[in-house]
Amino acid sequence: MVSEMNKKTYKWWYDNIESKFYDLMIKWIALPLGGETKFRKALLEPVSFGSGEKILEMCCGTGGATVFISQKAGNECEIIGMDLSCGQLKYAKKKKYSCPTEFIEGDVTDTGFDDDSFDKVFITHAIHEMYRESRLKTLQEARRLLKPEGQVVVLEIDNPPNMWLRLLIGFCFFYWLPGNFETPTRRDMFKHGLDNEVKESGFADVRKYSIYHGVFQTVTGEKKESP
Ligand SMILES: C[S@@+](CC[C@H](N)C(=O)[O-])C[C@H]1O[C@@H](n2cnc3c(N)ncnc32)[C@H](O)[C@@H]1O
Repeated sequence: MVSEMNKKTYKWWYDNIESKFYDLMIKWIALPLGGETKFRKALLEPVSFGSGEKILEMCCGTGGATVFISQKAGNECEIIGMDLSCGQLKYAKKKKYSCPTEFIEGDVTDTGFDDDSFDKVFITHAIHEMYRESRLKTLQEARRLLKPEGQVVVLEIDNPPNMWLRLLIGFCFFYWLPGNFETPTRRDMFKHGLDNEVKESGFADVRKYSIYHGVFQTVTGEKKESP
C-alpha cells in the first residue's frame, strides 16, 4: 500500500472515485493492445491450472482479472478475491464467473488465512501501487498462504525497452497526469525488478514472461520447502 500514513486516503480514493470509472478506464488502456479480453488472456497465457485448485486473488479490485482467471481455471476451481476497497468489490460481486467465487474486504499484507491454504495466489495489477516494504510483505504473505509446491502469479505492467512504446504506454496509462499517485511506486518497482523481489521473498524457480514487447509482465514463482 502507498504508505501506512495515507492508506486511508488510498482506500477512500478507490471506494469513492476510481471504482466508478475503473472498468471503463481499463477498456481505454487496453485499446492499443487489441481490447481488454485480448490483454487479460495474454497475461494468463503462461499459467496452467490443475483440477479443483483453490485460488486466492490478491487485490482483485472490480474482478476484471478474476473473470479471465475463472474461465481458464475451470468450474472445478474456487477463487477467493481480496481487496482493500469495498467500492471496488461492489463491482466485482456483479460480474459473472466460470467457477465459484467469494469476495472479501481485507489487507493482503495480513490476510488472516491459515498457512498452506491455497494452490495458487495471484496478485493482479496492484504491486506497482505499493512501496517496496509492502510489495515484499505482500509477496511473503502469498508464500505463507501457499501449499508446498504452490505457485504465485504476479500480473503487472513493465517498462518496455522501445522508447516509442514507452511514450505510447505513458500516454494511454496516464503517466503524464500530475499527482498520479502510482508514479513513484511504479518507478521503484521497475528499479528493483519484480522478478528479483519475487526471488527475494523466498520463491524458487522464478520466471518472468514478457508480454506485448515488454509492456506487461507475468512473473511466477514456486513455494519449495527450502528456497
Ligand atoms: C489497479 S487496481 C487492480 C484491480 C484488478 N486486480 C485488476 O486487474 O483490474 C489495484 C487494486 O489493489 C487494491 N489494493 C492495493 N493495496 C492493497 C492491499 N494492501 N490490500 C488489498 N487490496 C489492495 C486496491 O484497492 C485496488 O482495487
